[in-house]
Amino acid sequence: MSGTAALPDPDRTDEIPSEGSVLGGRYELRSLLGEGGMSQVHLAHDRELGRPVAVKLMRGSGEPDDVARLRDEARAAAAIDHPGVVTVHDAGESGGAAYVVMSYVEGDTLAQRVDRSGPLDVAEAVRVAVAVCDALGAAHAAGVVHRDVTPGNIILRPDGAVVVTDFGIARLGEGAGRTRTGHVIGTPLYLAPEQGRDTGRLDGRADLYSLACCLFTALTGRPPFTDPDPFAVVMAHLRATPPRPSTLRAGIPPALDAVLLRTLAKDPAHRPRDAAALAAALRAAVGAPPVPPARTRELPTGGDDPAHRDPAAATGSHALDSTIAEVESDESHSADRRRGLAAVLLVLAALVLVGLVVTLVTVG
Ligand SMILES: Nc1ncnc2c1ncn2[C@@H]1O[C@H](COP(=O)(O)OP(=O)(O)O)[C@@H](O)[C@H]1O
Ligand SMILES: [Mg+2]
Repeated sequence: MSGTAALPDPDRTDEIPSEGSVLGGRYELRSLLGEGGMSQVHLAHDRELGRPVAVKLMRGSGEPDDVARLRDEARAAAAIDHPGVVTVHDAGESGGAAYVVMSYVEGDTLAQRVDRSGPLDVAEAVRVAVAVCDALGAAHAAGVVHRDVTPGNIILRPDGAVVVTDFGIARLGEGAGRTRTGHVIGTPLYLAPEQGRDTGRLDGRADLYSLACCLFTALTGRPPFTDPDPFAVVMAHLRATPPRPSTLRAGIPPALDAVLLRTLAKDPAHRPRDAAALAAALRAAVGAPPVPPARTRELPTGGDDPAHRDPAAATGSHALDSTIAEVESDESHSADRRRGLAAVLLVLAALVLVGLVVTLVTVG
């Protein structure tokens, strides 16, 4: 996959296409819009239809399998017909990189907005989150789980519309944070606990968790869990209690705190049941006057501090997954131990009782 000598045939080089390249004989790359971990997004000109498009190139994903998967994903994403979902037009492969062609959306991402101007007003942050809920609801109804809802994938158009990009793309090859076998390799700041655990079972509620992390960032300027060590962040998603947003920034209503913390529940069953339910809860939270905080479920805090783990573990994704598995099996072992201890105590209590009765009968 790594670059070798460039060959004259544009379709047979291992060079990543760049400005001036024409993909699929049709999409002329004009300028780089942005770069993620394993991908680049270019503003391009569609020669066929004479309109601007955004072309996402996935590095290291040009194998036939990857391209086939990319086409499947693009097809699934193309089936979502919603103004809040970026329209996917086409998918292909060029120079060892699979690419997706989507409509070009003008504006800043939520990440850029927060970087430049700091946290959003509470009302604006909630408006954006509710719009993302609407888009996610349409995707989930079409059977597509986004899997990579981050502030970088939420575009705020100048007219106020909110558009979510990169639908389904996170599942591709080594594209966006995961290796082919599913190991986490990218930023886990917005990753749902079940994604860190890699159980394979994933539904729309993972996207709701990630959206709650995005709203947390929009409101406070930082995601719920921050640590330079990605492993520590994954562990925090799995075990740590997130801070109350209102402790990080004044003016956040307790009801909104409560909705956020509920949506950040480790167990998907304790989150709002779907995107529409989350949207309704968010609207209610800012519509109602601030009231004493609703009792929120206390999330279990991890007993073993991830910061004390071997930082080298974070560099290997296998190490990461196996260490998470160890922690989980430690947890189930200690549950087993607790159950065993309870049984022993019960038997002891029964013996003492029998002894007492026997003594009483004998004495009596
Ligand atoms: N459809 C689109 N239209 C316009 N700009 C886009 C589009 N999709 C992505 N971008 C821009 O390209 C940047 C890089 O995208 P991406 O590679 O997905 O990385 P990330 O999501 O981590 O920011 C985004 O942050 C955004 O600025
Ligand atoms: Mg993106």
